[in-house]
Amino acid sequence: MRVDVLFGGASVAPSDISGRVVAVIDVLRAASSIAVALSNGARAVVPLETSEDVVTRAKAFERSDVLLAGERRSLPIPGFDLGNSPREFTREVVEGKTVLMTTTNGTQAIAGTQGARDVIVASYVNFTAVLTMLRAALRGGTDIAIICAGREKRFALEDAGCAGRYAHHVAKRLTSVQLNDAAHACVLVDRKYGEQLGRLFDASEHGRTLREAGFGDDLAACAALDSYPVIPLYQDRQITRLGPDRER
Ligand code: MLT
Repeated sequence: MRVDVLFGGASVAPSDISGRVVAVIDVLRAASSIAVALSNGARAVVPLETSEDVVTRAKAFERSDVLLAGERRSLPIPGFDLGNSPREFTREVVEGKTVLMTTTNGTQAIAGTQGARDVIVASYVNFTAVLTMLRAALRGGTDIAIICAGREKRFALEDAGCAGRYAHHVAKRLTSVQLNDAAHACVLVDRKYGEQLGRLFDASEHGRTLREAGFGDDLAACAALDSYPVIPLYQDRQITRLGPDRER
């Protein structure tokens, strides 16, 4: 069995993920915001490439049923209802709504996973819930691919740390699981920072950029391990919460 970590989101080839269970990580901040939105009762999150796509898709809904969300250069998109701060996706705001979302890296990485068996959105805030599903898949004989959305399709330290934590725990005590080199490297990153996720974020370029832009509180929200224990499943071009009402 294999657990591979892949970097660069949209540049992942179909053969890298074909038939696998795929976890897409964008810790800062799209994956965390999606987990918060679904946990707080959003009907679905639809990941879209551009802000124009969001505006066009919104026309298919009653205006009161949708929220337009996303960022460019970390900042909310003018005219949209929400940015990409997990703290914005409160129950009061999102319950019962479909969130149409575009972000620089995260939503692109999620949308670029055609051919995977199942696609899950993973972060620290829903770590154990997603881990449980990944372990069940691996035990059932399905290989795992962990895609790090990264930053501008490149390596991002915070995604590597989170991927390392998943790779380590998903393979734990299971014999004959092979990790690729990237997964091994990510395990080392996770081991270096351990529970000190604040230090991990402060060491990362993206974390520092967000802090400088005034989003320091988002870093704390994204570091709150298991605070939103949902399994966000991407299927039929939308992300919904896997649970009793949405079995696979
Ligand atoms: C992204 O998808 O690129 C990120 O979530 C950016 C951000 O921090 O808002």
